[in-house]
Parts: sequence; structure tokens; C-alpha cells
Amino acid sequence: MPRTLANAPIMILNGPNLNLLGQRQPEIYGSDTLADVEALCVRTAAAHGGTVDFRQSNHEGTLVDWIHEARLGHCGIVINPAAYSHTSVAILDALNACDGLPVIEVHLSNVHKRESFRHHSYVSLRADGVIAGCGVQGYAFGVERVAALAGTARADA
Ligand code: DQA
Repeated sequence: MPRTLANAPIMILNGPNLNLLGQRQPEIYGSDTLADVEALCVRTAAAHGGTVDFRQSNHEGTLVDWIHEARLGHCGIVINPAAYSHTSVAILDALNACDGLPVIEVHLSNVHKRESFRHHSYVSLRADGVIAGCGVQGYAFGVERVAALAGTARADA
């Protein structure tokens, strides 16, 4: 059966230190917690008749394992890889193994206004869209975009 928003959840992945959202550098990342972000994603997906599978890990290999899970069981991925955006070939390779699956990269902050090491993202080499600098609202935009891309049957599923 083809995977669409109607029959498979959107995988929403959060990388290292995002468990501290709301406490960590609120002047950069805001005061909402990751639980607030999850509630926003649940609401946004529900408005399109979909569901989310919302996860966070501080470990690169765990994120790789979860991308493999999404490859077989989800209708798209919204990912904030956090610091791994700038370092992880392993996460890029895992995403590159997800043929045809919509992938949207989200950053709370505008990484392009920050230190130069944040200007490059390995994940952007695979992402179908990149959202940066919109705060937690960026996650809602990411869910909206996956809903638009995964609302109909995937040709290769
Ligand atoms: C981030 C930006 C990254 O550079 C940083 O390492 C993060 C969060 C963001 O959401 O703005 O941890 O991905």
C-alpha cells in the first residue's frame, strides 16, 4: 500500500541539545519547550488529516536508525539535525537512502546570520526544503510542506 499522509505518520526528528529547548540560549532559540513544539506539530498535521511521530536524540547513530525506520514506515521527514547538520555525513547518507521520501530541514535560528561554521549543512544536500530563522513556527511550515508533498500516493512506494 502506498504511504501517504492518510496512512503513515510524519517522522519529526530533533538532534542534540534540543531536549533543552526553552532553557538553552532562549535569546537565540526562544522560550517554547520541545513539548510545545510537539503539540504544534500534532495540531498542524491533524489539520491535514495526518499524524506525527515526534522524537529527539543526542546521539547521531540513533538519529540514523530512526531515519531508516522512516524510510520504510513514514510518509515524510521533518528534521532539525541541530549541530549534526554541520558535521554529519552519516545522517546525509541515511537520508540519501530514503528515495522519494519528502525531507524538510528546519532550524529555529537563522543559521546564516550566525557563525560561519553554521552556514554549511550536509543535510541540505538532500533536503527538499530548508526553513531557518522562523522559530518554532518553522516546524509547522515543515509539517505543512510534507503534508503537501505526501498528501497523494508516492510513485515508488
Ligand atoms: C539549530 C542551529 C544549529 O546550528 C545548532 O547547532 C542547533 C540548533 C537551530 O535550530 O537553529 O543546535 O539547528
